[in-house]
Amino acid sequence: MSGKATVIAPSNIAFIKYWGTRDEERVLPFNPSLSMTLTNCFSITTVEHLDDEGADEVFQSGRGGVLEAASATFAARVEEHLERLRRWAGIGGRFRVATENSFPMGTGMASSASGFAALTLALVRALDREVDTAELTVLARRSGSGSAARSVLGGYVIWPAGDGDEGGHAVAVAPAEHWDLRDVIAVLDGTPKLVSSREGHRRAPSSPYFERRLELLPERLDRVRAAIERRSFVDLAPAVEEEAIDLHLIAMSSRPPIFYWQPATLRVLAEVRRLRTSGLEVCATMDAGANVHAICSARDEPRVSEAIEGLPEVGSVIRDGVGAGPITVQEHLF
Ligand code: PMV
Repeated sequence: MSGKATVIAPSNIAFIKYWGTRDEERVLPFNPSLSMTLTNCFSITTVEHLDDEGADEVFQSGRGGVLEAASATFAARVEEHLERLRRWAGIGGRFRVATENSFPMGTGMASSASGFAALTLALVRALDREVDTAELTVLARRSGSGSAARSVLGGYVIWPAGDGDEGGHAVAVAPAEHWDLRDVIAVLDGTPKLVSSREGHRRAPSSPYFERRLELLPERLDRVRAAIERRSFVDLAPAVEEEAIDLHLIAMSSRPPIFYWQPATLRVLAEVRRLRTSGLEVCATMDAGANVHAICSARDEPRVSEAIEGLPEVGSVIRDGVGAGPITVQEHLF
C-alpha cells in the first residue's frame, strides 16, 4: 500500500533550554526543557511511501519555491531518520520526501525542530498509523534533534529529562490560548553557525559550570512554569534571561569553547533591557546562534518590533507568537 501526507509543523523557542545529551543514540537530555511553540516559523513536509525497492528521495524547496534535490548533508540526516522510522513501522519500500521552510535558509534560524517534527508526523500519517501523541514526541526526538519532540505539540511544552534508558515524552503544560506571548526575532546578518547544536550538546559537560547549571535548573524551571501558569511577565522575564545567558556561558566555557554571539547580539540584548526598563513587557533569549528572540506581551509587540527593526545592526525581523502546533493539510508539495 502506498500513501501520501503533508504536515505543517512550527518551530519552537525554549525558555528552559536543552543543552547537553546524556545518551546520544537515544537522544536523552541531561535536563528538562520548556518551550513555546511558534506559528509563523514552520516547516511543511510531504512524505510519500512507495512499495517499490530503491533509494529514498529527498527534495528541498530552493529559490522561487522550486523543488530541487536536497544537499548531501541534509539528505543524509533525513535518510537516517527515514530508515529509523521504517524499522519502527516494520515495513519495506521507500520514501519520497519534500520539505520547505517558511523562514529563509541561512538566517541562522534552526529548522531542525520544525523539520523533523513535520517529517515524523507526515510519515506516520502517510502510513495511516494510529500513534498517540506521547509516542509521536519520542519518534520525533529520535531524529537527533531533541527539540523536535516539543514541536509535535502546541502552546507551552515541557520535555522532561526522564531517567534510565527511555527518557520522557513531551507534554503541553498550557495551550496557546492560555497566554498570547509573542516572539520578535532579530535576524542578524552574517551569522553562519560554525558549530552545530549536536556538537554543542557533546561538548557541554566539559564546561566547569555544567554541573552547577544542572543544580540551579529545577528551581528555574519551577519559576518559568509558575510564571506561565499565572501569566506573570515580571516573573517570567528574569528566569528566561538567566537561562539564555547560562546556555551561552556553558557554550563559551566548553572545551574547546563555542562562541555563538556576535557584536550585534549584545546590541539587541541592551535594547531589550532598555525597553524593559522603560516599562515594556519584553525579555530576551537566544538559541545556539547569534539571533535574539525578544519574547514580549501582545500589548507591547508593536513597540518592541519597531524598536528592534530600527537598530542598524539588525538585518531583518520575524514577528511570531505562540501557536497551536502541527496540522495536516491536503495540499501536497508534489
Ligand atoms: O534539538 P537540537 O539538538 O537542535 O538542540 C536544541 C538546542 C537549543 O535550541 C539551543 C535549545 C532548545 O532546547 O531548543
